[in-house]
Amino acid sequence: MFTRTGGLTKGSAPVQNPIFPPGFLWGVSTSAFQIEGATSEGGRGPSIWDTFTATEGKIARGEQANVAADHYHRYPEDIALMAELGVGAYRMSIAWPRIQPEGKGAPNPEGLGFYDKLIDAVCEAGIAPAVTLYHWDTPQAIEDDGGWLSRTTAERFAEYAHILGDRFADRVKLWIPLNEPMVMSIFGYGIGEYAPGQTLLLDAIPTAHHQNLAHGLAVQALRAAGATEVGTANNHSPIWPSDDSPEDEAAAEWLDALLNRLYADPVLLGTYPEQLHEHLPAGFADDLPTIAQPLDFYGVNYYEPQGVAKPSPGNPLPFDLRPVEGYPMTTNDSPIVPHALRELLLDFHRRYRDKLPPIQITENGCSFADVVAEDGGVHDPERIDFLHSHLVALREAMDAGVDVRGYFCWSLMDNFEWSKGYAPRFGLVHVDYETLRRTPKDSFHWYRKLVRDEQ
Ligand code: NOJ
Repeated sequence: MFTRTGGLTKGSAPVQNPIFPPGFLWGVSTSAFQIEGATSEGGRGPSIWDTFTATEGKIARGEQANVAADHYHRYPEDIALMAELGVGAYRMSIAWPRIQPEGKGAPNPEGLGFYDKLIDAVCEAGIAPAVTLYHWDTPQAIEDDGGWLSRTTAERFAEYAHILGDRFADRVKLWIPLNEPMVMSIFGYGIGEYAPGQTLLLDAIPTAHHQNLAHGLAVQALRAAGATEVGTANNHSPIWPSDDSPEDEAAAEWLDALLNRLYADPVLLGTYPEQLHEHLPAGFADDLPTIAQPLDFYGVNYYEPQGVAKPSPGNPLPFDLRPVEGYPMTTNDSPIVPHALRELLLDFHRRYRDKLPPIQITENGCSFADVVAEDGGVHDPERIDFLHSHLVALREAMDAGVDVRGYFCWSLMDNFEWSKGYAPRFGLVHVDYETLRRTPKDSFHWYRKLVRDEQ
């Protein structure tokens, strides 16, 4: 009933794209460190990612992000591409070290000035800015004072949120305090694959609490500054036990608590999963009312499900991670499982019920080894398939009652994929890192038709 011809073909058969309700918000996402470059310009201070990328052995092929996609200088061209795409919103992040180079004190006028120009240009293109305050680029000075292991960082973050709210609340449509705090806690502090590179395993859990507190304090600060819509961008994965033995089920419950509920429960319910209480900082319960601020939307980043089994002998953790097998893979090693998006949304709907505000899919996307072909185009049928199948799953979840208001594709353009460097290409637009030339991929043209309702 909600399908129509989508201009996409599989073999010779036309494939149908789902129809979304009027007013559904179509967007694209990026983040500052992954695209801006210009890491030493405009009075920007160093971030933990500058330190990490400069450390030998941390990033594939030793790649750095000093130039990245050079968005800092080329943003007018990138905004023109978005205007051509016809998206209603652009999710971008502000680099904290451009605003507070030392992580505290008076804001850097050049940093504010850069985002003034950028946000104005986005608005002038008829696109609504959706701003993330923090996409992992902690000022190095804050890390030197303990980073997210320290409660003080949440207070500093509130100060930073005040600065941004005062300056930009008049123009920003959607506000997202932190992007994927789970990844910062687990990859950054738990296993050290991301900056700041600590390997604390479960002792990293306090960093989750301090980020959750930072979220709550920032929501208060943004609202005080007149922000309209404030939400989250938390990544979530359905957790799939290897089999239905009670041991594997228990391991799955634990991992679900660690990856999903540690972030969603305090924000939506004002509680933490019980198995994590002993790992949280003393007095955590006193912060729960601050963390559980009412939200205008709950942003979900979805990429993949996660497999799990009972712990092997000698594993200090209460679970073993297992790969999800039997699905095609992206070049970022993610299994492509669209129906897990439907499962995730339905689980959220059942679990949080009337506590769950409308959902925005704040990220969803895939990486492939895209190249500019001899005919000058970039042919990425796998990405079109990926987006199409995830939108079908999303629409099914909506038909089953989940209130989803928008979808942001990750990403507008190829960018610096953290410890994997530039190899995984996630963009609708190809970036040649030698010439910095942008080439819209076939998926760009496909998404353009979808969002412009021209199919
Ligand atoms: C989520 C993160 O927010 C983003 O920075 C990253 O590039 C994508 N996942 C793809 O891995």
